[in-house]
Amino acid sequence: MDHFQLKDGVLHAEDVSLRRIAEEVGTPVYIYSRATLARHARVFRDALGALDNPHIAFAVKANPNLAVLRILASEGYGADVVSGGELTRALKAGMKPEDIVFSGVGKTHAELLQGLEAGIGQFNIESEEEGYELAAIAQRHGKRAACALRVNPDVDARTHEKISTGKSENKFGVPLDRAADIFARLAREDGLEMRGVAVHIGSQLSTLEPLETAFGKVGALIEELRAAGCSVTHADLGGGLGVPYKAGEQLPSPAEYGAMVARVTKDWGVRLMFEPGRVIAGNAGVLLTRVIRAKRSGNGPPFVVVDAAMNDLARPAMYGAWHDFDAVQPTGDRMTAHIVGPICETGDTFAMDRECDALVAGDLAVFRTAGAYGATMASSYNSRGFVAETLVDGDRYAVVADRIAADAIMDAERVPDWLT
Ligand code: LLP
Repeated sequence: MDHFQLKDGVLHAEDVSLRRIAEEVGTPVYIYSRATLARHARVFRDALGALDNPHIAFAVKANPNLAVLRILASEGYGADVVSGGELTRALKAGMKPEDIVFSGVGKTHAELLQGLEAGIGQFNIESEEEGYELAAIAQRHGKRAACALRVNPDVDARTHEKISTGKSENKFGVPLDRAADIFARLAREDGLEMRGVAVHIGSQLSTLEPLETAFGKVGALIEELRAAGCSVTHADLGGGLGVPYKAGEQLPSPAEYGAMVARVTKDWGVRLMFEPGRVIAGNAGVLLTRVIRAKRSGNGPPFVVVDAAMNDLARPAMYGAWHDFDAVQPTGDRMTAHIVGPICETGDTFAMDRECDALVAGDLAVFRTAGAYGATMASSYNSRGFVAETLVDGDRYAVVADRIAADAIMDAERVPDWLT
């Protein structure tokens, strides 16, 4: 459930009319609902209620906006970060260092050091090489890094190939059949406290079976590690739970996910950790856009050209992703149209042959389920600048990220003397 509903015929975020935000902030603009974020955070935590003190770290990559992170910090969430920049954000937003997990296949020397100096709770090590590098840095600084070894369980997550991470051909983690040996070798390093295993097989999962299969393999690995004399106190089960992108679409609920996790892990005797991203933020945001014009072309449906583009919301262009597209003031009339942005490539298409609310030039509309992997994946392609972000709370809202104009981006560029 989200808080983007029609009130008196006008789409609102909680109690704020999207017309008002369009007039005051301009379009395109992302709009997040505080109540929806908080609700999702609680629903997910409640779904894990059968577990003993689970650790929940929001996957910052899904929505790194400081205001969004602050809301999740106040809900007791930690952060799963994958870069020094995300780590800085999580700390700035008020997440406790010990609640931060550092994931990612390419942490640099500087990032490993940054994590150590910040005193983060856990590094998810993605290779034996990374483990030795972290061990050396930790020793040099008189520290001990708490670590989990990320394993690649070779499970097909049955999601889009670009967001699948748990197949053997993907770059993530260490192969399961080598994991026990690598863990034992890294456990001998003074700079490391090897305490757990981690797994994340992909994102936008629409069934629980691949997760259950992967978790089963992790359970077997924990047994194997203990039999070999290693201590395992933590298991990080990653994120990945999908969300409905189409009205009426049925996906496994957080409660079903939580019940499956409780069943599969009941004998593990570890503290479980989670890294949800999309399931928390996805349906807590929309991208508000204005129709520039409708353009007839040949005999097919018209092209509705909106002022948002693939640089603002990359998912349709990148993954062929579906985002529901609704008028802010629907008249009841419907149309079939191609929904496109102004960028000069055919990939800048949000939807083909989409049945949607009838729209004419000047009308406002939203792409729904844009709260995760939306603004954070924006670029300034075609010198369009960076899209603004707003947060609604009841009957008030705030701009939580300024629009960055193309001019400001240009200010960071130089033409060297020797070209003049
Ligand atoms: N943990 C790790 C290690 C991850 O790599 C990810 C996502 C997550 C947690 C959070 O997964 P979630 O709960 O959000 O599914 N840009 C793509 C999604 C990329 C996901 C990358 N990793 C999209 O727009 O669909």
